[in-house]
Amino acid sequence: MENTCHFRYKYFLYTHLCLFLLVFLPQLSLSQKWDGVIVTQADYQALRAIKNELIDFKGFLRSWNDSGYGACSGRWAGIKCVKGQVIAIQLPWKGLGGRISEKIGQLQALRKISLHDNVIGGTVPLSLGFLHNLRGVYLFNNQLSGSIPPSIGNCPVLQTLDVSNNFLIGRIPPSLANSTRLYRLNMSLNSLVGSIPVGLTQSPSLIFLALQHNNLSGSIPDSWGRKGNNSYHLQFLTLDHNRISGTIPVSLSKLALLQEISFSHNQLSGAIPNEIGTLSRLQKLDFSNNNFKGSIPSSFSNFTSLVSLNLEGNRLDNQIPEVFDGLSNLSVLNLKNNQFIGPIPASIGNISRINQLDLAQNNFSGEIPASLVRLANLTYFNVSYNNLSGSVPSSLAKKFNSSSFVGNLQLCGYSISTPCPSPPPAILPAQTPEAPKRHGRKLSTKDIILIAAGVLLLVLLLLCFILLCCLMKKRSASKEMDGKTATRSVSGKDAKTGAVAGPEVESGGEMGGKLVHFDGPFVFTADDLLCATAEIMGKSSYGTAYKATLEDGNQVAVKRLREKTTKGQREFETEAAALGKIRHPNLLALRAYYLGPKGEKLLVFDYMPKGSLASYLHARGPETTVDWPTRMKITIGVARGLNHLHTQEDIIHGNLTSSNILLDEQTNAHIADFGLSRLMTTAANTNVIATAGTLGYRAPELSKLKNANTKTDVYSLGVIILELLTGKSPGEPMNGMDLPQWVASIVKEEWTNEVFDLELMRDAQTTGDELLNTLKLALHCVDPTPAARPEAEQVVQQLEEIKPELAAAPADDGTKVPPTTE
Ligand SMILES: *[C@@H]1O[C@H](CO)[C@@H](O)[C@H](O)[C@H]1NC(C)=O
Ligand SMILES: *[C@@H]1O[C@H](CO)[C@@H](O)[C@H](O)[C@H]1NC(C)=O
Ligand SMILES: *[C@@H]1O[C@H](CO)[C@@H](O)[C@H](O)[C@H]1NC(C)=O
Ligand SMILES: *[C@@H]1O[C@H](CO)[C@@H](O)[C@H](O)[C@H]1NC(C)=O
Ligand SMILES: *[C@@H]1O[C@H](CO)[C@@H](O)[C@H](O)[C@H]1NC(C)=O
Ligand SMILES: *[C@@H]1O[C@H](CO)[C@@H](O)[C@H](O)[C@H]1NC(C)=O
Ligand SMILES: *[C@@H]1O[C@H](CO)[C@@H](O)[C@H](O)[C@H]1NC(C)=O
Ligand SMILES: *[C@@H]1O[C@H](CO)[C@@H](O)[C@H](O)[C@H]1NC(C)=O
Ligand SMILES: *[C@@H]1O[C@H](CO)[C@@H](O)[C@H](O)[C@H]1NC(C)=O
Ligand SMILES: *[C@@H]1O[C@H](CO)[C@@H](O)[C@H](O)[C@H]1NC(C)=O
Ligand SMILES: *[C@@H]1O[C@H](CO)[C@@H](O)[C@H](O)[C@H]1NC(C)=O
Ligand SMILES: *[C@@H]1O[C@H](CO)[C@@H](O)[C@H](O)[C@H]1NC(C)=O
Repeated sequence: MENTCHFRYKYFLYTHLCLFLLVFLPQLSLSQKWDGVIVTQADYQALRAIKNELIDFKGFLRSWNDSGYGACSGRWAGIKCVKGQVIAIQLPWKGLGGRISEKIGQLQALRKISLHDNVIGGTVPLSLGFLHNLRGVYLFNNQLSGSIPPSIGNCPVLQTLDVSNNFLIGRIPPSLANSTRLYRLNMSLNSLVGSIPVGLTQSPSLIFLALQHNNLSGSIPDSWGRKGNNSYHLQFLTLDHNRISGTIPVSLSKLALLQEISFSHNQLSGAIPNEIGTLSRLQKLDFSNNNFKGSIPSSFSNFTSLVSLNLEGNRLDNQIPEVFDGLSNLSVLNLKNNQFIGPIPASIGNISRINQLDLAQNNFSGEIPASLVRLANLTYFNVSYNNLSGSVPSSLAKKFNSSSFVGNLQLCGYSISTPCPSPPPAILPAQTPEAPKRHGRKLSTKDIILIAAGVLLLVLLLLCFILLCCLMKKRSASKEMDGKTATRSVSGKDAKTGAVAGPEVESGGEMGGKLVHFDGPFVFTADDLLCATAEIMGKSSYGTAYKATLEDGNQVAVKRLREKTTKGQREFETEAAALGKIRHPNLLALRAYYLGPKGEKLLVFDYMPKGSLASYLHARGPETTVDWPTRMKITIGVARGLNHLHTQEDIIHGNLTSSNILLDEQTNAHIADFGLSRLMTTAANTNVIATAGTLGYRAPELSKLKNANTKTDVYSLGVIILELLTGKSPGEPMNGMDLPQWVASIVKEEWTNEVFDLELMRDAQTTGDELLNTLKLALHCVDPTPAARPEAEQVVQQLEEIKPELAAAPADDGTKVPPTTE
């Protein structure tokens, strides 16, 4: 994905450069005559027709109003002219619907038409073929249907045609090859059929050819590069996700400038031709999920620029060639799910940039080469399901979890359950990183005094500890375990039964604290927790949250509560035990707590890889969209979680915001930070409440009321739904209004469509009712009168009525706990 974005970014630079040359330079020379030029009658009529057939949901075309005098004065949005003739129409991301008028063919001087990222339907106008000056056509991300008119091949100076991500059908017009300036052709993500026109393979100008995600069939023509002429420019060739069959044409190797080939998810077969290895500029090669047979050509070691090689899911066999010395730039190597045999070449350890190495599901045998330990940047490694033997190098075993190694009957040393016959003693000291380092130098008097003091302190501590132990033995019958036994007893099913009989307790441990587990998927001891590598995720009024990576690679979220704000130990433990029992798919589960010897308190929760809803929604790249079904799933999740809190647990959240809603891998919502006030002293809580009810989410009556209640929670829920609908952050006031006021003001003016996030307008034709009904519900939740607001339970019901599929499929837990069989 990153590659694609990067790619798109590069391409934008490219077009902007071209745009500058095409549009700006001619204007410079005409700048004196610029003002007051009247648009020609033909162009004026064409523009009127275009406006009539487009649907202007957001009023961007309101400026196309006067009798034509203004069209070329720069006042008409998106129109550029030269000498009274329109040369460019640029209205991307304007929420435009309707269709493109055939009258566009009257704009004889038109060079560029850019209407991408709208919701325009209808067909690609035939009359584009009349435009002899047309250079750029950008219609991607719309809802165009029908086939691509062959007449478009009549545009002699066409440079870019991007109609990707529409609903286009039919064949690729062979006439396109007649446009000898065409350098970017993107028809990806449509439903095109038929085969790739031979003419395109001989284009002297094409640089980008993107036909991925269509329904193309036939074989790839073996006619690349012009006969007797070496000037072919193709750099990016993406044909993945089609139904293309046949073999890889040898003539591809003539395209010396190729940087990227993607043929994945097709039905290609045969051997990979050795000649491909001559493509010395190739950076990305993806042949995955086809039917290729035979071995990796030895010429692949000549790929000096190659960064990513993906051959996953084929029937390639034989050994991998040992000589990989040319592949110094390779960072991704995926050979998963083939039939490779023989040893894993030790020379892979010399490709220092490798960060992903997937060799799973093959027939590799022998040991994992020790040279792989040198790959410092390795972040993904998988050799599972092979025929490997011997012991896993310990640094690999530590870095990657057992699922990277399973399925090799004779492989050992990668998990507790696969010990090697005679464990290498070198592993043992590594488990006590705190061990003091010995220095060979002589001791000074100062050192001796310090050591003596230390010894004395130790003796005192030991005495205290023994005393404490005696006291505890008398008081409680709870059994004490050392770290190791605790490790086993809290694992998997044991933990489940543990939850019934009361939480698992581990006391002692190297650090002298107490760890209490509730049921959950993870196995760790107090020492594991305290030695985990942690990075700060955020701070709140309750304390600081960390992402902690345990020794076994599992991740948990740890909240360190602010000191001196929590209740006394016994009360704290009672309340924490109650919170630890709360389990709901949309509530962040408390898995354990730790009480340190100095009174520090840690709470351990599931780690949510997608972070908070706030960052998911507001801190994403411009290319990442969050579609309506995902937003709806988050909405219902939050509503269900809140309903559970209100009705089953009798808990008021009090500070529900998009920063407190966390998202798991499947983007299920988990409400965090509920019930924490129960762990705090009254004084600390007054403080928190004074600052809580984060601005923008806080019900208006809270300025007078002291305590939050279910209705103030529902208000916050309403704000979150509005946030999801509008894509706007409630923290930032709009024209002095908060988000609910702003939405209400627009709905009152009957510009309802204006409130929705532009991204959601894309599918507005299918989801329009859902959007409107959810908007109504959200406005109901933020009603200024508390009594008028629904309860969370009714919100859940109404959401399920709006989107009945949701009622049928409640979100899954997202944790690895096996279902109970009782
Ligand atoms: C046309 O629209 C522009 C911009 O919206 C506005 O400033 C102008 O007053 C309008 N002119 C007429 C004649 O309506
Ligand atoms: C082609 O279009 C797709 C979808 O719009 C886009 O992701 C891709 O980057 C484009 N490729 C080129 C070469 O323009
Ligand atoms: C390309 O143009 C020539 C003449 O300009 C025409 O004869 C030929 O049919 C065109 N090819 C296609 C495939 O349209
Ligand atoms: C692709 O074409 C085949 C028949 O040619 C058709 O059965 C299939 O539904 C098409 N798939 C798509 C995604 O259009
Ligand atoms: C190859 O084609 C290019 C552009 O089409 C042209 O400029 C060049 O002269 C041709 N070279 C030969 C050897 O035909
Ligand atoms: C690699 O390239 C060199 C020079 O281009 C060539 O001599 C050699 O045969 C190539 N190696 C393989 C294995 O194809
Ligand atoms: C390898 O990558 C680096 C940086 O990405 C680049 O500068 C270098 O030219 C590449 N090497 C080759 C042989 O392409
Ligand atoms: C591995 O090799 C054995 C014996 O040659 C063969 O039976 C088996 O199918 C192979 N497995 C795979 C996944 O290629
Ligand atoms: C790896 O590189 C070292 C030098 O950096 C070289 O001596 C060694 O032969 C290489 N190993 C393999 C297996 O190619
Ligand atoms: C490893 O990754 C770091 C950070 O991305 C980078 O600076 C370094 O060059 C990489 N090392 C190698 C050998 O590629
Ligand atoms: C696994 O590897 C051993 C040699 O290490 C070999 O004797 C055996 O045939 C292999 N098994 C399969 C199924 O390939
Ligand atoms: C390794 O590959 C196997 C088989 O494809 C897969 O089940 C396992 O999840 C992978 N492990 C990791 C860490 O991705």
